Amino acid sequence: GEVEQAVSTGSLPGWGLVDELVHVVHDRYRSHDEGVVATYIPVLADADPGAFGVCVAETSGGIHEAGDTGVDFSVQSISKAFVYALVCEALGHEAVRERVGVNNTGLGFSSVMALELNEGHPMNPMVNAGALATTAMMPGSSFAEQWENVRTGLSRFAGRQLALDGEVYRSESATNMRNKAIARLLQSYGRIDLDPLGVVDVYTRQCSLLVTARDLAVMGATLADGGVNPLTGDRVVSGQVCRDTLAVLASTGMYERSGEWLFEIGLPAKSGVSGGIVAVAPGKGAIGTFSPRLDPAGNSVRGQRATGYLSRALGLNVF
Ligand code: DON
Repeated sequence: GEVEQAVSTGSLPGWGLVDELVHVVHDRYRSHDEGVVATYIPVLADADPGAFGVCVAETSGGIHEAGDTGVDFSVQSISKAFVYALVCEALGHEAVRERVGVNNTGLGFSSVMALELNEGHPMNPMVNAGALATTAMMPGSSFAEQWENVRTGLSRFAGRQLALDGEVYRSESATNMRNKAIARLLQSYGRIDLDPLGVVDVYTRQCSLLVTARDLAVMGATLADGGVNPLTGDRVVSGQVCRDTLAVLASTGMYERSGEWLFEIGLPAKSGVSGGIVAVAPGKGAIGTFSPRLDPAGNSVRGQRATGYLSRALGLNVF
C-alpha cells in the first residue's frame, strides 16, 4: 500500500498514515520467530512466544495499535525508567545522580562484577544494582508505603490503575538470590540505607506490575509530553525530570546494546525481559511493543524491528 511505497522510496509516510503504518509493521514482522523467551524467572517461560503487539501513542492523545496490544505482561525492567523518574521528581537531579549515576557499565544488567569494579557505585539506574538503589530512595515511611507509591506513580504514567501479577511476583521472589546478593552488597557500600531484603521485595513487586503494549506507549508518551499524561491530562513529573530520564534511557536503556540501538534507531528506549519495549520521541509520542522472544542481550527481537521500522517511517530519530 501507500505506506510500503513511501518507506521503500525513502519518503516519510508521516503521522497521517500512522494508523495504517502500525498494521503494516505488525504484518511485516508477525511471522518472525527469532529469539527465545526468558526463562531465568520460571513463570516467564510460560509466555506465548507468538504474542505481538505494536502501539503508537501521540502527545496529542492519538492512539494507534495493531495486534496484541491489550495482552497483559509483567513490566519487568521497564519499571526502572518510571521509578527513576518518580525518584528524581521527589529528590531532585543531583541527589539521584550522586547516589546512582548515569553511566553505562558495559556489563550485563545483573552484574555483580560491575558493582565491585566501581567500588560499589551502581553506575546507572537501569541495571539491577542502580534500580535497587533507586527504589530504596522512593518516598514512603515503610516498604508498604514505598510500594504503594511505586504502584500509584506507574499507574499515573499509564493513566489507569496497574495491578500486580501475583504469580510473577512469587516466581521471581523464589529465584532472585542474585538481586538479594546485589542489595546486600549495596548495603555494605553504603548505597542502601534500608533493609536490603525489604528493598528487593519492593523492587520485585515493581517488576511484577502488569502492563500492555498500549500502556507502555502511553507511559512513554507521558515522558515525550514533558511529564503530562496525554490521555488524562495529569502532570506526573516535571519537564526537567523527563529530560533526565530520557538521557539515561538513551545511554543505558537497552542493556549492553544501548550504543548500537541509539546509532541505528536514534530514540531513548527501555526494554524488559518479558518482551516489552518503550521508545520515546520527545515532543511527539512513544512506541510500545510486546513480543516475548529476546535476543542474547535480553531485548525483544520483533519489538526492536518494529520500533526501528516505525522510527524510520515517521522520521523519529532525534539526531
Ligand atoms: O530483576 C530482574 O532480573 C527482573 N525483575 C528484571 C530484569 C529485566 O527486565 C532486565 N533488566 N534490566
